[in-house]
Amino acid sequence: MAGARHEGLTRVLPPVWLVYLIGFVPAVAYFTLGIMDRLGADPQNVLERALGLWALRFLVAGLAVTPLRRSFGLNLVRYRRAIGLLAFWYACLHLTVYLVLDQGLDGAAIWADILKRPYITVGMAAFTLLVPLAATSNAFSIRRLGAGWNRLHKLVYPAALLAALHFLMLVKAWPPEPLIYLALVAALLAYRIVEPRLRKPGARGRAAQAR
Ligand code: HEM
Repeated sequence: MAGARHEGLTRVLPPVWLVYLIGFVPAVAYFTLGIMDRLGADPQNVLERALGLWALRFLVAGLAVTPLRRSFGLNLVRYRRAIGLLAFWYACLHLTVYLVLDQGLDGAAIWADILKRPYITVGMAAFTLLVPLAATSNAFSIRRLGAGWNRLHKLVYPAALLAALHFLMLVKAWPPEPLIYLALVAALLAYRIVEPRLRKPGARGRAAQAR
């Protein structure tokens, strides 16, 4: 009964291209406001932070796909690639703003910053882990890599953890937002460890294959 209801819901879900379209709305809005000089006293920092935050939001949303399906029967798996790629593109835009507007493409200064400021090092590590995932998020790579593709894409777990840590490290006090993101990422990763253990023994093997 519940399965049929969710099946019906899955049928009315919007097409994947709409997820991309809606997903890029914040970026377009922030760049437009930036061009119109309506991002306040420090527009570059507002833009940089907004893009970083959206990258993290999409990372969290991507991690939520499996728990939503397993625990609530809501199957959004067909959007997972779009959500993951949106996270990557937002991280690229975030990094680009940092490289161009923040550091003026000064290679030596950028390198020194990566080595000197731990939150930049951690952000860079998170971004680096996302690169092979984005590069293999296509049908050809999925076919080519076979089971290795699933193993490779588990890199999203440390990437999300590092991204949440990057957010926490750059704040001076302890505001709730970065702690909430870190807790969300930790909970979504813990789910992957705990949930298969709570399942019936027969379902475990299948769960491991599907993860
Ligand atoms: C997966 C990759 C990344 C994610 C998800 C991410 C996420 C974030 C988040 C959430 C913020 C804070 C936003 C806010 O305050 O509301 C932020 C700020 C920032 N990030 Fe990242 N980031 C990533 C990678 C990077 C990289 C590679 C760099 C540079 C090499 C970087 C440099 C910065 C800087 C400079 C700030 C602003 C700090 C400030 O305002 O003083 N990030 N990032």
